[in-house]
Amino acid sequence: MIDIQKVTYRYLGKPALVEADLQIEAGDSVAVIGPNGSGKSTLLKLLGGLLHPSEGRYLLDGKEIVEAALKDPVYSRQFHQRIGFVFQNPDTQLFCSSVEEEVAFGPEQMGLSVPEVKRRVDDCLALLQIADLRGEHPWNLSGGEKKRVAIAAVLAMNPEVLLLDEPMNGIDPKGKAFLRDLLLRLNAAGKTVVAATHDFAYIDGLFRRAAVFSEDHRLVRDGSCGEILADRPFLARHNII
Ligand SMILES: Nc1ncnc2c1ncn2[C@@H]1O[C@H](COP(=O)(O)OP(=O)(O)OP(=O)(O)O)[C@@H](O)[C@H]1O
Ligand SMILES: [Mg+2]
Repeated sequence: MIDIQKVTYRYLGKPALVEADLQIEAGDSVAVIGPNGSGKSTLLKLLGGLLHPSEGRYLLDGKEIVEAALKDPVYSRQFHQRIGFVFQNPDTQLFCSSVEEEVAFGPEQMGLSVPEVKRRVDDCLALLQIADLRGEHPWNLSGGEKKRVAIAAVLAMNPEVLLLDEPMNGIDPKGKAFLRDLLLRLNAAGKTVVAATHDFAYIDGLFRRAAVFSEDHRLVRDGSCGEILADRPFLARHNII
């Protein structure tokens, strides 16, 4: 489904991701791990169509995702509907004046009927256990509550692929256990889940696969998440633990 071929990305000439090759099949679950600055967020932004390769190619179902195509509003809407992106910082994502509007925004943009939008909003608020916050302004919420709203807003579009950048950041232990269970359920329901994370205690048993990035922005290992997390000498060598 997702096919990243020898992708390099540079910010103003400075490499952030170097010759990454990564293939992800529909329904897979992948943890993206690596030290600070190794290129995890950059990879997720590329997958989410927010950045475009400086070199190499990104194919989705065999079709190359190019910047020019994403400038077309119809194509762009279809793409973002299929691939949902939850930002590391929910403040980057939330812009409506109530939680309810925030969650309704995506389905409304998709042109769904009023009853269908309402159904999706109700379902997603219930799923994230934030129904009591529906009238609140997102600014007035706590960090963890904002994160739940951001996830609900993405799920309301019912994307096939969920990209999450540090989903456990700022979430309390009970919330992390809840989010872990939610991601497991979404993956079991067939969604492809890709998350950048440092939270190893919570990702163990959650992801089938891990893709590990090194300080020099290269993909140094791609394999079973359980095996990689258990390989402490490898993690230590790459300054991950
Ligand atoms: N907007 C930007 N402009 C310039 N350089 C950037 C920008 N964003 C990231 N970088 C650089 O690109 C490299 C990779 O950054 P990225 O955010 O992808 O790392 P990361 O693995 O997500 O790190 P973290 O664990 O801290 O979230 C870093 O060297 C970073 O300084
Ligand atoms: Mg990051």
